[in-house]
Amino acid sequence: MRLAGAHVVLTGATGSIGSRLAERLAGRGARLTVTARSAEALDELAARTGALAVPADLADEGGPASLLTSAQDRHGPVDVLVHNAAVEVAGRLEELDADGLAAAVALNVRAPLELTRLALPGMRERRRGHLVLVSSLAGVATFPGLTLYGATKAALTQAAAGLSLDLRGSGVGTTLVEIGPVSSTMMSRVRDHPPTAAAFTRAARLRVLRDLDPDEVAGAVVAAVEANRRHVRLPRRAAVLAATAGLPRAVVRTALVGIEG
Ligand SMILES: NC(=O)c1ccc[n+]([C@@H]2O[C@H](COP(=O)([O-])OP(=O)(O)OC[C@H]3O[C@@H](n4cnc5c(N)ncnc54)[C@H](OP(=O)(O)O)[C@@H]3O)[C@@H](O)[C@H]2O)c1
Repeated sequence: MRLAGAHVVLTGATGSIGSRLAERLAGRGARLTVTARSAEALDELAARTGALAVPADLADEGGPASLLTSAQDRHGPVDVLVHNAAVEVAGRLEELDADGLAAAVALNVRAPLELTRLALPGMRERRRGHLVLVSSLAGVATFPGLTLYGATKAALTQAAAGLSLDLRGSGVGTTLVEIGPVSSTMMSRVRDHPPTAAAFTRAARLRVLRDLDPDEVAGAVVAAVEANRRHVRLPRRAAVLAATAGLPRAVVRTALVGIEG
């Protein structure tokens, strides 16, 4: 997908990775709509990148639809949807409250699926579109304290695989982003839960994981969209984990649609 002139809707745009994505997408000439809840942070980002700011709470039932309506009213049909917003939840499941659990599922899973459901008919009709689903290695690997977060990311990873199959030949591409820990405020909050922090420290000591730079992630995502690549897996040393976990999907896909699928 050529980004110059494309209307890109980016969720979670004010976060550690989102703000770098916004800068890089704007740098490639995209017509950008940025969204998050905090209007002040969004306005600052919009001023810096020339983006259209549309505040929305995507955990609310009507949030995805109202975001899409505002974005399309002002910037026209959506060409690229970047599903980047998510909430991390570190802790034992039984220690979480019911509202927090519902909000995490709504933001991390329902919102990207709902936005996609709403945007896809137009993309299919125009035979032009690209979906980016920002998942996590926590969707394929198990970390203590990340039961809920990992489950939501596993759902997103599986959704990306299903979408890419359903969208074959439609002109609409997908990119699944499976990344390890990123130097970010999200990661520092995750590390507040001692068992999770200990697991990441051990993974780093074993050299399985290293902290990624948010700009490194943003650069890889933008390059993947432009090259219509189906996967971004970082850090490279852990990519084998995601590829191995994705093997059953890849085997069945090849059996069903052939090696070119
Ligand atoms: N950081 C990591 O180590 C890491 C590792 C693997 C994968 N990831 C994934 O990468 C993506 C970005 O992570 P990040 O570290 O950049 O996160 P972050 O810094 O915590 O940013 C989260 C973004 O989502 C927005 N947001 C939160 N709740 C929302 C809601 N209810 N409705 C709409 N927007 C909401 C936040 O803005 P407001 O609070 O103003 O709404 C913010 O813009 C996520 O999908 C995450 O799961 C991150």
